[in-house]
Amino acid sequence: MIPVLNASGCLDALTAPDVARTLDAYVTKTVTPLPREGNPPPRIAETDVGMLNSIGLANPGIDAFLGEHLPRLAGLGIPIWVSAGGFSAADYAHVCSLLDTRAEVDTIELNLSCPNVDAPEEDALAIVAAARAATVKPLYAKLSPALPNLPGTAAAVAAAGADGLTLVNTLRGLALDPATLRPRLAAGIGGLSGPALRPVALAAVYACARAVDLPIVGVGGVACGRDALELVAAGASAVAVGTALFADPGVPGRIRAELAVLRGRVPDPGV
Ligand SMILES: Cc1cc2nc3c(=O)[nH]c(=O)nc-3n(C[C@H](O)[C@H](O)[C@H](O)COP(=O)(O)O)c2cc1C
Repeated sequence: MIPVLNASGCLDALTAPDVARTLDAYVTKTVTPLPREGNPPPRIAETDVGMLNSIGLANPGIDAFLGEHLPRLAGLGIPIWVSAGGFSAADYAHVCSLLDTRAEVDTIELNLSCPNVDAPEEDALAIVAAARAATVKPLYAKLSPALPNLPGTAAAVAAAGADGLTLVNTLRGLALDPATLRPRLAAGIGGLSGPALRPVALAAVYACARAVDLPIVGVGGVACGRDALELVAAGASAVAVGTALFADPGVPGRIRAELAVLRGRVPDPGV
């Protein structure tokens, strides 16, 4: 069976616990050391090839997350992956050291790729090394498809101690209001997700699977069983569903049903 997760930031498990329970693991929205309100609205815009968002890592901060959110998430009865973010390697290490003490946390996914906030000054290698020193939990590095040398970065984070990769985060995009020709998002540019990202994610998974020997969660435009199967054929060992969940919360169950039908009809991708 191919594990099906949600993509970080695309499902609130506490308001939709029944949807979360259909997943093989729940991935939280990215948590940073301090609370963040995120960018001003509007911060979501539909386009004809997917969705643009400029949420800007709105989250309660690690202390409130650990005190209030994590115990309730643990009650879902599925593995909890916590997405960790920050603005320096020290931020990531701080969040990881606190998560390390909590049995409710199965895996930490390092969000090294948010297009809607200033990037940390340190590179991915330094951040993963700092996080690795702070926790013994499994560590996944979530990388941007816009990196100039994605397989090279994948190899670097593997050498720094990452246990897996999550590929990919959104790509920067812009949508204009047809009447005013002004940006539709208050922040101007946002992150593009959904169908347009699917070939990008496939290419990223394909290239990184050849560069490193790590498990890969494939993310980007997954909306049906065939999308999931293609990511696995490219080298992923699990898939995560993001934008498709907004339109159809039943998509994880549908993906599994469609995969079961596809199984006998296409070459086995070997998972
Ligand atoms: C509204 C929204 C919020 C997101 N928030 C996060 C986030 O907090 N952390 C993160 O790593 N990725 C975040 N993402 C990116 C998704 O996890 C995923 O990588 C991306 O949307 C591509 O998958 P999709 O095409 O299936 O949506 C967000 C995406 C959307 C649409």
